[in-house]
Amino acid sequence: MNAAETNYLAAVWPHSLTSAMAERRTGVKSSEPRKSPVRFRKKHLLSVADLTRDEATGLLDRAEAFAPLLEQQIKKLDTLRGRTLINLFFENSTRTQSSFELAGKRMGADVVNMSVKSSSVAKGETLIDTAATLNAMRADLLVVRHGSSGAAELLSQKVDCAVINAGDGKHEHPTQALLDAFTIRARLGDIEGLTIAICGDVLHSRVARSNVALLNILGARVRLIGPPTLMPAGADRWGADVFTDMRKGLDGADVVMMLRVQRERMNGGFFPSAREYFWFYGLDEDKLKHAKPGALVMHPGPMNRGVEIDSSVADNPAVSLIETQVRMGVAVRMAVLEALNGGGEP
Ligand code: CP
Repeated sequence: MNAAETNYLAAVWPHSLTSAMAERRTGVKSSEPRKSPVRFRKKHLLSVADLTRDEATGLLDRAEAFAPLLEQQIKKLDTLRGRTLINLFFENSTRTQSSFELAGKRMGADVVNMSVKSSSVAKGETLIDTAATLNAMRADLLVVRHGSSGAAELLSQKVDCAVINAGDGKHEHPTQALLDAFTIRARLGDIEGLTIAICGDVLHSRVARSNVALLNILGARVRLIGPPTLMPAGADRWGADVFTDMRKGLDGADVVMMLRVQRERMNGGFFPSAREYFWFYGLDEDKLKHAKPGALVMHPGPMNRGVEIDSSVADNPAVSLIETQVRMGVAVRMAVLEALNGGGEP
């Protein structure tokens, strides 16, 4: 490898850091990334709250082993050769759908993207009938996004294959939380003991719910920050400290996760205007100064620039992990597909 290639790899993938981390954690030399798949007893991935700490850490370790592969010219494995993965997205997606598609293809699976708009769902077919149809085609892995909380769990009871929740209503988005944790771990070494502030439209956010659950499992201190109108009742019982003053909530935070304002789920006036929302809860350079010096910024995407985040922060590579999150998503989803390929244990 020449110097230019070394610099490129260091820029796109902080492998020396993650290899050292993996070595400390697993005792496996950095030149030998964890070779064995995760022992995963569950048939489906519906909620991160169902994961044990060992299962969550195992998935992140395995993603760490896959990540360098994605920087190579030939990125294919044959772990899922002969398997069929169906992406069934009832809501729009750029990152999650393409990331599962790439992850499935990198693992050697046949991948089918169901276009709901042009499927029989548009003619009134029910979710259950759609699932039964796909089941009859002997899919092995079904990745589902749906606007209703609980839709992925319902499907998992009706089909034989493994179901992965790619976002269900306001409930959960498990692989987003896993890729967020993987991104933090790759940059900061360990999640245990970090203070992580999750800010914005908590009320409508499945990303917030999954992140609070997973970050608690992994030993972080979690804060939720947002206007009272966008903070669910009982959020203080999720395992997070709740703040309505953004500057106070950011004080001393190692990582600031911004949430998208989900206007499509709002049927009333949750805040007076986008301009006022940005004034109080939009992350800009000034508000970021209240977090720990060197604090890192994340956002699951898609971003509303000038509403929940300012471009001066989002596009600043010294603080923003937003592009890294997207890149990490493929490795994390490869780890999840591999784990579920085992079929669970009785
Ligand atoms: N983060 C996320 O779920 O993005 P998409 O809606 O583009 O999949």
